Amino acid sequence: MTTESFVEPTLTPLALLLLGRGADPDSERGVECAGDLPAPSDPGLVERARAAKAALGDRVFVLGHHYQRDEVIQFADVTGDSFKLAREAAARPEAEYVVFCGVHFMAESADILTAPEQAVVLPDLAAGCSMADMAAIGQVEDAWDVLVDAGIADVTVPITYMNSTAAIKAFTGRHGGAVCTSSNAQRALEWAFEQGEKVLFLPDQHLGRNTAVLQLGLTLDDCALYDPFKPGGGLTADELRAAKVILWKGHCSVHGRFTAETVAEVRERVPGINVLVHPECRHEVVLGADLVGSTEFIIKTLDAAPAGSAWAIGTELNLVKRLALAHPDKQVVFLDKTVCFCSTMNRIDLPHLVWALENLVAGTVVNRIEVEPDVAHWARVALDRMLALPGVAAAPKD
Ligand code: 13P
Ligand code: SF4
Repeated sequence: MTTESFVEPTLTPLALLLLGRGADPDSERGVECAGDLPAPSDPGLVERARAAKAALGDRVFVLGHHYQRDEVIQFADVTGDSFKLAREAAARPEAEYVVFCGVHFMAESADILTAPEQAVVLPDLAAGCSMADMAAIGQVEDAWDVLVDAGIADVTVPITYMNSTAAIKAFTGRHGGAVCTSSNAQRALEWAFEQGEKVLFLPDQHLGRNTAVLQLGLTLDDCALYDPFKPGGGLTADELRAAKVILWKGHCSVHGRFTAETVAEVRERVPGINVLVHPECRHEVVLGADLVGSTEFIIKTLDAAPAGSAWAIGTELNLVKRLALAHPDKQVVFLDKTVCFCSTMNRIDLPHLVWALENLVAGTVVNRIEVEPDVAHWARVALDRMLALPGVAAAPKD
């Protein structure tokens, strides 16, 4: 299959529903934009974005996560996974404005890692992350009390995935833990086991389980699943005491939709195909895959793959489409026929980007993401612990 024959999966009703213009101020998905957005049909949008960026020059730095739309990614000064973007944000002290084309938790981290006089802008405040929403700070504090009651809080190190609110990163920092991303979860867990006997892993059960079992050599029985909606997490004190890794019951609604059947189906359809998935996929999907790693790892693997090789990719569709385009000499297919885009990543579109940039040109900072100082301090402690880990890129499973 070449680029021309890349078959785009059908959008599901769920994707269309979540792309609506709803607002939820209590949610990581944020609220709607204030102000008048340019019409998506405006034929001058690309030119307007170009002109606004040129007018701002070095005063603005645009970061683009790999899951962003093509119409937005073309204006990114740098693209990357969440780990690379966090480092890039920290390395740009000269930029007055950092426009983050990604989701809310990433923009919060950029704010924490940049100087106070630098403004981080998220072009649409409704670009959140449903996984980050699955762990609220009150629930995490309650869970810690449960660990205290079970007598294990003192020996437990919290590790939170980057995909969590600043409040949870701060909680982690206060309790001796660190942040991790999908590129360094193994190193973060190894570090945590050097500090204590157990890990509380938030909020993605799949990344936690896949890393603990496939990279650290723990067993599934070493992992306990903590459900914040059940009393005591749905676990007895003995179960908590026996666990080495306590996994928060959260997941990514995009990656969580790949199944072991989709892996089997693609292998049958394309004999000899390599299956490459993100570690947010379910354990059985990762077990059935050939390689697992962060978005940056997925890109590098495709770059290094020989011409003529065939790949089924289990991650967000914007990235897979770009990979198919970038590698016309390789067969690149999406792992599933129906999985939707990340609807919240897709909230950042060209009208929002133009609106944010043109406001900056006019001297108005819109949609600034500012983390409250005490939260920022402790979240920074947890982020710095991550940034101090040797930068281990996600690696092949075996
Ligand atoms: P990366 O850490 O690979 O950028 O993934 C972030 C994310 O949101 C994946 O769903
Ligand atoms: Fe969150 Fe999943 Fe979207 Fe990543 S792909 S931002 S984890 S909902």
